[in-house]
Amino acid sequence: MIRITEPRFSEEEKEAVLNILESGQITRGEWTGRFSREFARYVGVKHCFTVCSGTTALFVALKALGVDRGDRVVVPAMSFMATIDAVYLAGGEPVVVDVDRFYTMDPNQLEDAVKRYRPKVVVPVHLYGCMADMEAIMYLSEKYGFYVVEDSAQAHGAEYGGRKAGSWGHVGVFSFYASKNVPMGEGGAITTDDDRIAERVRKWIDFGDHPAFNFRITEFQAAIGTIQLRKLDERNSRRRSIAEFYTRSFSDYFDVPLERDNSLHVYHLYTLRHAERDRIVEELRSSGVDARVYYPYLLHEIRGSEHLPTPRAETFRKEVFSIPVHPYLTEEEISFVVETLTEIVSSGKIIS
Ligand SMILES: Cc1ncc(COP(=O)(O)O)c(C=O)c1O
Repeated sequence: MIRITEPRFSEEEKEAVLNILESGQITRGEWTGRFSREFARYVGVKHCFTVCSGTTALFVALKALGVDRGDRVVVPAMSFMATIDAVYLAGGEPVVVDVDRFYTMDPNQLEDAVKRYRPKVVVPVHLYGCMADMEAIMYLSEKYGFYVVEDSAQAHGAEYGGRKAGSWGHVGVFSFYASKNVPMGEGGAITTDDDRIAERVRKWIDFGDHPAFNFRITEFQAAIGTIQLRKLDERNSRRRSIAEFYTRSFSDYFDVPLERDNSLHVYHLYTLRHAERDRIVEELRSSGVDARVYYPYLLHEIRGSEHLPTPRAETFRKEVFSIPVHPYLTEEEISFVVETLTEIVSSGKIIS
C-alpha cells in the first residue's frame, strides 16, 4: 500500500536521541529551548511555547485569550474535531461557519456570525496546508474587536501575502503529530508576537497560575522536531511539485485543490473532489493506494453546536478524498497513483 503519509528520520535524529539518553537530560534541556527559538524565528514571531499536542495548544491559546463559560468562539465547518473540542474544553460556546472554495473559513459568513454572536475569538483553520483568507479575517478582527487564533496544525511553512501561517493572528497553534509536515511523534506549539499574550500562555503551561497542568514535551521530541524543521522547506517544495503534477494530471476529471493568489500552499494533504467519492476511494484502496476522507463529519455535527447554514461544507464533505502526497514518494509511486486514479475515472467504472 502506498501510504497516505509517513514520517522519515535520518542518522541525525538517531544520533541526537542517543546523545540525549546518554546525557541524562531527557526533559527541560537545551533542545526544548532551541526548538522554541528556531520555530519562532521560522514563523516570524517573538514567542513560541511548546506543549504536548496541537489540541493542548488550541486549549491554552483560548484560555490565554480569556475564553471562559459561555464565550463565543467561531470555527469553520471543516477541520479535525480537536478544533471544536478545544473550544468546549476551554468552556466556550462554538459557532460554526461555512468554508469557501479553498476549504477554509468563509470571511463573508464570518462577518454575519460576528454581527450575530459577538465572539471573543475566531479560529480559522489552514486546512490541508492552504491558508485561510487572513487579510479579510484580520480586517474583520480590527473592525469588530475579536482575537484570532490560527489553527496551523496542517500548515507549517504555508504563506499568505509573504507572511507565514502562525504569524497573522494574535496567536498561532501547531501540531507535531506523527503525520504532520514537522513530525515529533506528539507535540504542539503556540506562537505569538504579543508580549502580554505570551505572559498569559506562560502561566498556563509553566505552573504560573494554580491549579495548573503540565503540558511539557521531552528533549527527544524537541530534538526530532528541531532537525525535522531544518528540512521543512525542502520537503514542502517536494510536496508542492508532486501536487503540481497531480493537478495537471487530474484537472479534467476532478475538482482539484485551488491555490490562493499570493500564497504558498504546503500540501499537508492533496485533496480532490468527485461525486462518486466513496467508490473511487474503495477502488484506490483495493489497488494499493491509501486514499482517505478528511473529514467525514462537519464540526457542528459532533455535539450539535450552533451554526450558520453550511451548504458548501455539506457538499464537500460528501465529495472530498485525499491521496498520498508526502515527500518520500518515489517517481514510480507517483506515476502509479496517477495511472491508477486516471484509470478508475476514465474506464467507465465510475460514471461522473
Ligand atoms: C486542523 C487540526 N487541528 C488540531 C489538531 C490537533 O493536533 P494534535 O493531534 O496534535 O492534538 C490537528 C491534528 O491532529 C489538526 O489537523
